[in-house]
Amino acid sequence: MSVLIAPSILSADFAALGDAIAAVERGGADLIHVDVMDGHFVPNITVGPPVVTSLRRVTRVPLDVHLMIEHADRFIEAFAAAGAAMISVHVEGMTHLHRTLHAIKALGVKAGVALNPATPVVAIQEVARDVDFVLVMSVNPGFGGQTFLPRSESKVREVRALLDGAGSRAPVEVDGGVDAQTIGGVVAAGARILVAGSAIFGNADPEGATRALKAAAARAAGAPVPR
Ligand code: DX5
Ligand code: ZN
Repeated sequence: MSVLIAPSILSADFAALGDAIAAVERGGADLIHVDVMDGHFVPNITVGPPVVTSLRRVTRVPLDVHLMIEHADRFIEAFAAAGAAMISVHVEGMTHLHRTLHAIKALGVKAGVALNPATPVVAIQEVARDVDFVLVMSVNPGFGGQTFLPRSESKVREVRALLDGAGSRAPVEVDGGVDAQTIGGVVAAGARILVAGSAIFGNADPEGATRALKAAAARAAGAPVPR
């Protein structure tokens, strides 16, 4: 599959999200990544379903909703109704992960499982055939602008190997510290969905930054470089 760029609005100006999304869409954004935090699973609070509903109205590309909340299963329906096309839940927070993944799929939404940096890849072994994508956190979740953890590259390789071994073509998504320096390594390791927050919205030109990251990712994947 081609490489997808998913700008994270966490680092955008929340008073002007429509403008931020329009800019990255002009730059070729494939998805918009929405970070949902509850102040319990992670030490930060962001947005809930009403904001996703509003974003859906102004966004042309699919919304990729990353739940960093306790009891994520209780909120799946609300985020699906709000217009999420993809929902990821953390393996560390789910007692009944298999049930939750299938509940997401039953709502017509792509189901992802996310792994914190300290969580071993084996934690997703039993759901390898149930997931539509796997999100490898390359920083500890909670904040934008953190430094990429280099170990994440080999972790992406391990996840890709586990999925391949299970006969799954589900893509690997990488989230945290992805920028012009780190994107090539994770794509070479097998990542095909790249989340970037501060590298895009911390740049004076989010449209150009999106375009540049997408070109760098395509080069690393050996795919045609978009113009
Ligand atoms: C962090 C979030 C990320 C965050 C990434 O907990 O899950 O999506 O926005 O931001 P950067 O790209 O700045 O590391
Ligand atoms: Zn995220």
